[in-house]
Amino acid sequence: MSEWWKTAVVYQIYPRSFADADGDGIGDLPGITARLDHLAALGVDVLWLSPIYPSPQDDAGYDISDYQDVDPTFGSLADLDRLLFELHARGMKLVMDLVVNHTSDEHPWFAESRSGRASAKRDWYWWRPPRAGMREGDPGAEPTNWRSAFSGPAWELDPASGEYYLHIFSRKQPDLNWENPEVREAVYAMMRWWLDRGVDGFRMDVINFISKDPALPDAHDTGALFSGSEHYICGPRIHEFLAEMHREVLAGRDGLLTVGEMPGVTLEEARLFTDPARRELDMVFQFEHVQLDQGASKWELRPLQLTDLKASLGRWQAGLAEVGWNSLYWGNHDQPRAVSRFADDGEHRVRAAKMLATVLHMHRGTPYVYQGEELGMTNAPFAGVEDLRDIESLNHYAEAVAAGEDPEHVLASLRAMGRDNARTPMQWDGSPHAGFTTGTPWLGVNPNHVEINAEAARADPGSVFHHYRRLIELRHTLPVVAHGDFTMRMAHDERVYAFTRRLGDVELLVLGNFSGDPVVAKVPEVERWRAAELLVGDPGDDPLVLGPWEGRVLRA
Ligand code: NOJ
Repeated sequence: MSEWWKTAVVYQIYPRSFADADGDGIGDLPGITARLDHLAALGVDVLWLSPIYPSPQDDAGYDISDYQDVDPTFGSLADLDRLLFELHARGMKLVMDLVVNHTSDEHPWFAESRSGRASAKRDWYWWRPPRAGMREGDPGAEPTNWRSAFSGPAWELDPASGEYYLHIFSRKQPDLNWENPEVREAVYAMMRWWLDRGVDGFRMDVINFISKDPALPDAHDTGALFSGSEHYICGPRIHEFLAEMHREVLAGRDGLLTVGEMPGVTLEEARLFTDPARRELDMVFQFEHVQLDQGASKWELRPLQLTDLKASLGRWQAGLAEVGWNSLYWGNHDQPRAVSRFADDGEHRVRAAKMLATVLHMHRGTPYVYQGEELGMTNAPFAGVEDLRDIESLNHYAEAVAAGEDPEHVLASLRAMGRDNARTPMQWDGSPHAGFTTGTPWLGVNPNHVEINAEAARADPGSVFHHYRRLIELRHTLPVVAHGDFTMRMAHDERVYAFTRRLGDVELLVLGNFSGDPVVAKVPEVERWRAAELLVGDPGDDPLVLGPWEGRVLRA
């Protein structure tokens, strides 16, 4: 049972946007349970559920006001138990989102903390007086110059006490103070409660932010998106906290999966987090490869160089080969749609989505499929800012336009990078709301659902969906996919992504054409690969000649 996740594939559901059973326009748990045949047909092993807890929904559920219940929008605890039962009955597991860097400001812990300086829970959050020599509320009086990831300062003044509280995300997401052992004990007790209920693990939201330098020094650079983050990304006690969490919560329980979301994590740190001997986490989500098409902030767009992508992912493959384990992803609820971002969502959409999947799933690590990716869903044609719902995008737009930026320019970057691209409703069929809801969807359905939808994909043997099914099956049945070693090939080629995997005397060659032109893959041992068996992809006249955006796997 141990390290079972090395042969597993995880499917992420963003509950607001997956399936709405009660017609209020927002997805819910009964909606998910009713659609489990989709996951079973795909063959995935694990469902990771983005937050379904009670929440004011300031950050779409990542602002939690009660860790041990379900928001009525999504259903009830009984609905959650039912989903868990139905998943287990189909041999699948459930991984919950664990958001404990911060709570909602409407969580009772924060309400009590805010009630006054003498509150028994005052120290559960980061409260500080104004900067020395300044008065509260004065411009620049915040205790540090850190910026929130959602624009503006990372501190909010509480006029009643005259002190500020820290919020790395929105002002409705105050950061918990993990220095306080009571906070850690409360979090661990909550986690045990979920595991006792039967869930199979946690995806831990920005978990490498929980240990802050208690001195809270100023940021060196106030321009960066997470300015100040040098004082809280993988902070001084992070390994101690995660090892303690493992001891207090996870140790002795079999069959779990833990994955830590870690913006800014380095390969060296990731190796420590995922070294099994250290008993911290099974794997982490790193962000290097999803920042290669950006400048100092995610809104500064830069063309992606394929050689940079290969250098980055190749470095992570090599760095976690002997110790630790990779998680593999192109997209999630925070990233634009993969086929639009990394490939071609126009003429070659189907081929391109399949090629991206082939390349990702043949890496060593645990692949994550984000809902709709298996259909080749694309970014959305947002007409204007009124079509957007995400706090990150809306705050950025307001701040950038107020600072004098051209609104059209700001919109262009939101269209390319905004998180709502991933959050448009799941496209089940070609009917008016794509089969997602009978009501009015909370975020517009992509008009291309008429063509791109699950019903059509399942009926078409050549679809992106059936391609994912095949890749997932290969991971389950072919040991070289999960366990083989990895060697990057053609590292300096700007169009072809090529690598080999080897286990014993089985070797795979994986090829992906990241261009709209036909290319010849100039790999070593040409004759051997020409004679090899085609495992994945369409046969061509020559297996080493790839059509636009075509991918292939050969076995020798
Ligand atoms: C990462 C989550 O994936 C994102 O959606 C959220 O806004 C932030 N963490 C804050 O919780």
